[in-house]
Amino acid sequence: MLRFTARNYARIAAAAVTRRVPVYAHFGITHRCNLTCKMCGIWRYGNEREELSPAELQLMAERMARLGVVQLSIGGGEPFASANLEAACSAFLGQGLNLRVLTNGIGEGNGRNVVRGQRYLDRVDRVIDLGVKNFSVSLDSLYPKRFDYICEQEGAWDEAVATMSHMSRRLSGVGGALPTINCVVSNLNLEELPDMVRFARDIGFAVSFLPIELLPDPKAGLRNWEARFIRYRPELGMPIEAAADEAHRRIDAAYGAIIAMKAAGEPILNSTPYLEASRRYLKTGRFPAEGCDAGRLYFSVAPNGQFTICHRTEQQHLHFLDPNFEEYFHSAEFERLRLMEAGGCEGCMRACWIDTSSMFRTLEGFFETAKMTLQPPSARRTAGPDVADRWARRDEISLPAELVEAAPA
Ligand SMILES: C[S@@+](CC[C@H](N)C(=O)[O-])C[C@H]1O[C@@H](n2cnc3c(N)ncnc32)[C@H](O)[C@@H]1O
Ligand code: SF4
Ligand code: SF4
Repeated sequence: MLRFTARNYARIAAAAVTRRVPVYAHFGITHRCNLTCKMCGIWRYGNEREELSPAELQLMAERMARLGVVQLSIGGGEPFASANLEAACSAFLGQGLNLRVLTNGIGEGNGRNVVRGQRYLDRVDRVIDLGVKNFSVSLDSLYPKRFDYICEQEGAWDEAVATMSHMSRRLSGVGGALPTINCVVSNLNLEELPDMVRFARDIGFAVSFLPIELLPDPKAGLRNWEARFIRYRPELGMPIEAAADEAHRRIDAAYGAIIAMKAAGEPILNSTPYLEASRRYLKTGRFPAEGCDAGRLYFSVAPNGQFTICHRTEQQHLHFLDPNFEEYFHSAEFERLRLMEAGGCEGCMRACWIDTSSMFRTLEGFFETAKMTLQPPSARRTAGPDVADRWARRDEISLPAELVEAAPA
């Protein structure tokens, strides 16, 4: 999400006119992670040796600022698994970029060695003290057991929610702070979306909904798009063929409710066009057809500094720290490759990309983003652990046992 500070007006205006200013970027600082969430494959690729040094992060920050980046999300992997997160935040903030740090809220870790509790929260505090006001914390259910199942980590819900309470208190009264829940919408949690909005509001957060993307079965080979993730984790995917009518009814009910809540001013970060596109995608498996501005309005950088036009494409562009990168980025050759890649892509549902495009394509998208950023839920509440804990549904659990058993470990 882009912030409309005076410093950034010129870049946003230039992006609106030329559509060639990369106002949004994503940097996966590490692919290492302390969790192995069922719907995520990133943690498989973590390699500390490939990651950038603080000096390289400084160069990256300077380059991003020169290219016109306004908003940078630091994701991963788990950003707190990197000992360089604080150095990265200092470097990017020092160049005047708005930062959002994505985290699972469940401890820092080095590889799989989780360091929980106070040491993680101390690092969260350090990052806040450096000037980071925006965090996205993942939470996919209000049923602790269901969320622990998705994350493959007992106690994950309690840890993540304790982190949210901590952030809620630390960021209370901080101008421009908009901590957010990242909620992946799947077959397991469709009925929970309206309550997730109420929960977010109650603890002083906003919420962003991301429909689950069906990654390929790891055994099927990366290019085999027929062998979708739904076969690998059937309990999470929406049943597109079998029981489609019932699934469509559930999807319509869930998205109808949250679109109405958004119109009523509830703190939902996604634009209405994005929520409508999500509803269509979950029903049909089809991505939005509007085209994509990857490489123009946004780009992505991998932990080793490799530049890609977005999170998923693989074209070998010049390395982001190559001395000739800026020249390359503005060259006709880059535009040719970018068009080939984005034009040949079947699409995706990444909210940050689609909402950035939507912001510059539709008036509705523009004004909704402006409204959320100029007037972040200002009456933000501060929530202690007791408030958050009231929402925990500890007694109930509905995991489809036969599917869970069918899913490979
Ligand atoms: C890859 S994680 C990185 C940041 C951090 N480790 C976290 O979990 O928040 C970023 C977001 O992607 C979401 N995600 C992971 N796998 C996904 C999938 N298959 N489809 C949709 N979203 C997914 C996560 O739930 C999380 O909110
Ligand atoms: S915490 Fe984030 S990066 Fe790690 S496995 Fe889960 S979704 Fe993936
Ligand atoms: S639509 Fe394709 S090229 Fe565009 S951001 Fe999504 S995956 Fe990347």
